[in-house]
Amino acid sequence: MVDLFDADPQRAAHFSIEVGPLFCDFSKNKIDDETVRLLVSWAESQKLPAAIKALFEGKLLNTTEKRAALHTALRSQDGKACYINGSDVAPEIAITKQKMQQFVSQIRANKSINYIINIGVGGSDLGPKMVTRALSRKAGHQRFESYFLSNIDGHVLDDILASCEPSETLVIVTSKTFTTLETMHNADKVKAWLDDAVGEQGANERIVAVTASPERAQEYGVAQGNIFPFWEWVGGRYSLWSAVGLSIALCVGWDRFEKLLAGAAEMDRHFAEAPLDKNLPVILALLGCWYRNWFDYRSHCVVPYDERLKYFVPYLQQLDMESNGKAVGRAGDSVSVKTGPVIWGRPGSNSQHAFFQWLHQGKDIAPVDFIVARKAKHKHPETHQLLVANAIAQAEALLCGKQAPGGQPHRQFDGNRPSNFILLEKLNAFSIGMLVALYEHKAFAQGWLWGVNSFDQWGVELGKHLASTIFYQFTHDDHCGHDASTQGLLSRVSLK
Ligand code: F6P
Repeated sequence: MVDLFDADPQRAAHFSIEVGPLFCDFSKNKIDDETVRLLVSWAESQKLPAAIKALFEGKLLNTTEKRAALHTALRSQDGKACYINGSDVAPEIAITKQKMQQFVSQIRANKSINYIINIGVGGSDLGPKMVTRALSRKAGHQRFESYFLSNIDGHVLDDILASCEPSETLVIVTSKTFTTLETMHNADKVKAWLDDAVGEQGANERIVAVTASPERAQEYGVAQGNIFPFWEWVGGRYSLWSAVGLSIALCVGWDRFEKLLAGAAEMDRHFAEAPLDKNLPVILALLGCWYRNWFDYRSHCVVPYDERLKYFVPYLQQLDMESNGKAVGRAGDSVSVKTGPVIWGRPGSNSQHAFFQWLHQGKDIAPVDFIVARKAKHKHPETHQLLVANAIAQAEALLCGKQAPGGQPHRQFDGNRPSNFILLEKLNAFSIGMLVALYEHKAFAQGWLWGVNSFDQWGVELGKHLASTIFYQFTHDDHCGHDASTQGLLSRVSLK
């Protein structure tokens, strides 16, 4: 890559794309004009432009579940109709948004509600938590103290309940299906805690549900007025733009929630309209395929140089790995190429003191996405400059490497390790919306190119099913019907 930079003084400008306040320099990749031309022509031969059109038109791209994936309609800014199977979904989106907005202003004005607990897991947790924490770092730095209860871990449950005053708490049970084991178990526990403190009626007044299965929420005892719907055509990991974002809107305010949607819509416009060779989600997707399939790089590292984005990588792990960690093709065939890489990472500069050794000198290579905000929101400009300098330095070190002094091979840095540098003007609701939509579209484009359905997640079903069986057996002291190892573990942990 260093030779390519030497040969072309315009390389950095040439391999950069700017979309509103989001700038991406992808010049530190193992590409030249010919590579991009060939990758783009491959994408054309795979009919990616038609797939992008089909996504925005609400076509049933989620073939195994016969559903559209129309999350872009949730953030559309043009007020136009959005059709799925001939029926316009724009009016129901508008009605739900209006209900959310009213609720947000009513609850934010209600001085007797000071704590919010969102109960949900996967897409019903990771997106809302990531955005809420990115827009205000600590639980208590918003209008409410906010908590996200996702894991089935009594320690977390204890800590959260000990931090909240039940009479001042609003509980949001967020679950597309309203059947997810973790969520329903946690909801039962929190409901019992409310019941004990404020009685059944008081508990019911303090519980709201966000779900694509309103009848189940009603059966659970949630009042109809407290149910915020979303729809089958919104995938869990693509859902933070829907009522699943209620916790975001409550914590950071409705205006900022709208800005989040507007930022995503700006990236949507770019994805829908830009030619493939100038289309950032497409370029990032092609680079990902280039490394996965031509270089056999097995993982992709994402390092936000911003502690506010500390939940971004966990969020992205679900988005990308649940979308593209698949081996069965859209036609039910076995996919012949390698698909989704392992996504990993954590904020810098901390991570420099953890896994950057591996990135610089390990035997494997992982392309890195650096994510940096040009301006910070705190009172220490030189602290921010130091942080940004570290990100730029790491990207340069990965590119250029360093010749070891004689006799000290352990100080050799080979360099020639690829990275993208994503620079946001500021980290705010708008730019987070853009960033998330960028990665959503990248995942979709990659999945399309690999030939998989990025919108289903059958791979999580077996473990869920077995957990229910094993839990039953565990609590009934029955260890039969398993392999010897599973049976042995069950008898060891047996309650008796
Ligand atoms: O992990 C599997 C999954 O189905 C995710 O796709 C989803 O985001 C999560 O579980 C939670 O599902 P639900 O919102 O239905 O509770």
